Amino acid sequence: MIKEATTTPLAPIPVSKGHWLLKNLPGMGKNILTHFYETEQKFGPTYDNPIPFMRIICTSEPDFMRYVLQQNHRNYKKGKSYDVLKLVLGNGLVTSNGQFWQKQRRLAQPAFHKKSLADLFDAMGEVAGDYFNSLEAKRGTEIDIAREMMAVTARIALKALFSDNSEEDMNAVYESMTDVQRYVSDVLNDPFARIKFPLNGRKKQFKKDMSVLNEVVLKAIAKRRESGEKHPDLLQMMMDATYEDSNEQMNDQQLRDEMITMFSAGHETSANGLAWTIHLLAKHPKIVAKMRAEIKAVCGDKLPGFQDLRQLTYIRQVIDEGMRLYPPVWGVSRTAIADDEYRGVKIKKDEVVFCLIYNAHHREDLFENAKTFNPDRFETAKVKAMPKMSYLPFGGGPRLCIGNMFALMEMQLLLVGLFQRFDFDLIKDQIIDMEALVTLRPRYGIKMNLK
Ligand code: HEM
Repeated sequence: MIKEATTTPLAPIPVSKGHWLLKNLPGMGKNILTHFYETEQKFGPTYDNPIPFMRIICTSEPDFMRYVLQQNHRNYKKGKSYDVLKLVLGNGLVTSNGQFWQKQRRLAQPAFHKKSLADLFDAMGEVAGDYFNSLEAKRGTEIDIAREMMAVTARIALKALFSDNSEEDMNAVYESMTDVQRYVSDVLNDPFARIKFPLNGRKKQFKKDMSVLNEVVLKAIAKRRESGEKHPDLLQMMMDATYEDSNEQMNDQQLRDEMITMFSAGHETSANGLAWTIHLLAKHPKIVAKMRAEIKAVCGDKLPGFQDLRQLTYIRQVIDEGMRLYPPVWGVSRTAIADDEYRGVKIKKDEVVFCLIYNAHHREDLFENAKTFNPDRFETAKVKAMPKMSYLPFGGGPRLCIGNMFALMEMQLLLVGLFQRFDFDLIKDQIIDMEALVTLRPRYGIKMNLK
């Protein structure tokens, strides 16, 4: 494994010029993931990717990403694309910046400590158990594993957030959230969306969906406040938490933003990670056999308890490797707050650095036989030898995913339950393609025979 040289100058970096007027916009609009990947194959891991009126520096260099995300993170805020996410998420943890973000992060962090996660794991187990039972009805039929995973992770997230809400309200959140996320993705990916959507009625529909979403979430908050009842869920933890300086609690609007942020950040990512991993497993029966041997040894026929998770090391490696090949968040961007310089590369105020997680995970010099699905590369000793930030499915630095442990335990639980009870055969001759929206999802789903 080659380590990055940290002191040699990187500048001058190559420029991907693209179209004479629109620069790299057409390539990015056609297929953003392929565009960034192929440009890297042509120019190397760090290159300039201008679009009209904006310079984007793309990189998959672990050290460069570490510099921006961690070492000099104070000089960077979330990239411009996060402003579009604000339409739905408001000013929650994902989209906020600076001191306000830091205050919120400190407030929310305890909800993801081990003790709270153990409580949430019980609720997760209940939802998962019901889901596996309901899946029995589909045995012998064709399923779309991507759709299945989206539905079950949404249920888990909703239970973890609002454990006491009615089925009807949860469905309303799920449906309106799916619609508004689709809208935001389309705004992000279609350069003409801002002109088209007010005219073709999509903007109006979006506003309607948002008001349903807000109403249900604010109602859940009000109900909890009025009843005075306590429930073991994220809403409760966030409601009870107090700011260090003022000792005050979050107001309803901020609670709404954080709840919707958690739901949005927390289910589609895990769902896509799982769907891609199950798709890889369906092609690797030997790995499935090894996984099943571990499940049998640790849990027998039961679902794992919270304490068992640590022993499910091979399954954890399978998940890590699945997210290496198909990182649910394929890149994170940052905008420079003031002029900066990294190894001779000048980064001016307002320029964007795009950390390309997908590209880093597919580099041959960082991961031998990078295209091969090989969970053994995540054995503890080998992980220790990996260059820092060469593997970063959860991002890095102070803005590392707050839900990473939640996601890992959820994915372990679901993989165990699914492979205890079912076999998955990929339907032949289907097109499986990646679509890089906010998350990396299978464009046409992934069809499987459930056995
Ligand atoms: C496999 C599943 C997941 C993946 C791959 C993932 C990935 C990420 C990444 C890469 C970031 C950093 C974004 C950036 O730096 O711009 C992030 C942030 C975040 N994630 Fe996750 N995530 C997952 C699951 C979850 C879950 C389950 C939750 C909540 C229950 C969650 C909540 C958040 C929040 C709130 C942030 C913003 C943190 C901050 O800026 O302080 N994520 N996630």
